[in-house]
Amino acid sequence: MKKLLTLAVAGALVATVAGCGNKTETTPSTSPAASTGAAATTAPAAGKKPTIGVAIYKFDDTFMSGVRAAISDAAKDKATVDIVDSQNSQPTQNDKVDLFITKKVNALAINAVDRTAAGVIIDKAKTANIPVVFLNREPLADDMKKWDKVYYVGAKAEQSGTMEGQLLVDYFKAHPEADKNHDGKIQYVMLKGEPGHQDAELRTKFSIQAITDAGMGVEKVAEDTAMWDRVKGQEKMAAFLASSESKIEAVLANNDDMALGAIEALKAKGYFKDGKTLPVVGVDATAPALQALSDGTLLGTVLNDAKNQGAATTSVATALANGLVPSKETTGYDITDGKYVWISYKKITKDNMNEAK
Ligand code: GAL
Ligand code: CA
Repeated sequence: MKKLLTLAVAGALVATVAGCGNKTETTPSTSPAASTGAAATTAPAAGKKPTIGVAIYKFDDTFMSGVRAAISDAAKDKATVDIVDSQNSQPTQNDKVDLFITKKVNALAINAVDRTAAGVIIDKAKTANIPVVFLNREPLADDMKKWDKVYYVGAKAEQSGTMEGQLLVDYFKAHPEADKNHDGKIQYVMLKGEPGHQDAELRTKFSIQAITDAGMGVEKVAEDTAMWDRVKGQEKMAAFLASSESKIEAVLANNDDMALGAIEALKAKGYFKDGKTLPVVGVDATAPALQALSDGTLLGTVLNDAKNQGAATTSVATALANGLVPSKETTGYDITDGKYVWISYKKITKDNMNEAK
C-alpha cells in the first residue's frame, strides 16, 4: 500500500498542471463578532471579526464547489472568508498562502493541491504563527505532527469505498441476472480519481474489499484514472466499452462526476433503455448525481457531506483565529486525536435520496 501510494503521489506530481490567472471570492464583513477566547498573537482586534484565508485546490470541481459555498455560508457573521482558486497548481497555491500571510489573516484553511506539500505550508504558517486547517486532501500523518495549531477536516476515505462496494453487493444479490456470464463474479471497470489522493486510493481498494468481504467473487476488467472529471470519465468509459463491452457487469467510479461521464458513454451505446442496463456507482451525492438516481441511470452513490465539511472548516478555523483551542464546545464538532474532524459518509440510493438534498 505504501509503495502504491508513493508511486501514485509521483503520478500526481507529474499530473499537476500550472494554472494561470487569478480569482478571488470574499464574503463581505457585516457584523462584529465577540471574541471570547484568550488573545493569541494571531487573534483579531477586540470586537473585530477574524479573517480566514481559504485556498481551494481548484474552483472547477463539483464537490469542492459545494464545500466552498458551505464555508461561506457558515462564516456569515462569525468570520470574513477570503477564498482563492489555486487552479490545480501547487506553486500558485504557495503564492496565495504567502499573500495571506502578508495580509496577516487570522487563520488559514487549505485544500492542498498536492497533499504531500502540506509540510511546506505548515512551516510557513508556523513561522508566521497563523493556525491552519486542512480540508478534503489529507496531509501525511508526519506533517500533521509538525505543529499543534494544525487541524484536518475530512471524511474517512475507506468508509466511502466500503459503502460503494456494498451498494453493488446489494444490487447483485437482488438481481442475479446482472452476473451476465453466470460465473459468480462481478466483472467490473474502475474509474479512479487523482492518483495519490487518499480518496482515490482508498475508495478503489475498499470498494473491492467490500465485495469480497460479502463473499462474492470479483474480477477487474479495466481500471484507469479520470482525475475526478466528468469528460475524462466519459472518454475512459468509451474506451473500456470499445475494448471489452461484453465482459463488463458493473462500473465503479471514485466520484459522481466520473460516474456521470460513464453513464454518458453507456447511453451512447444504447444503455438505460429497452431493458439494457448496467449498474454504475459513485461517491459525493452531488445535485446532478441525485438527478441521475431519480432518472434510474445511476444505481447508487455515497453522500460526501459538503455542508458539514465546509461548516466544520469554518468553525475550527474561526475558533483558532479567535485564540481558542478547538473542541466540541468551541466548534460544535468532535475533535479526534487532538486535530481531526471526521464527517460521516452515508449510502444513498433512489429510496433515501431526500436525505442527501
Ligand atoms: C473528493 C471528492 C471528489 C473531488 C475530490 C477533490 O472527496 O469525492 O469529487 O472533489 O475530493 O479533492
Ligand atoms: Ca460475472
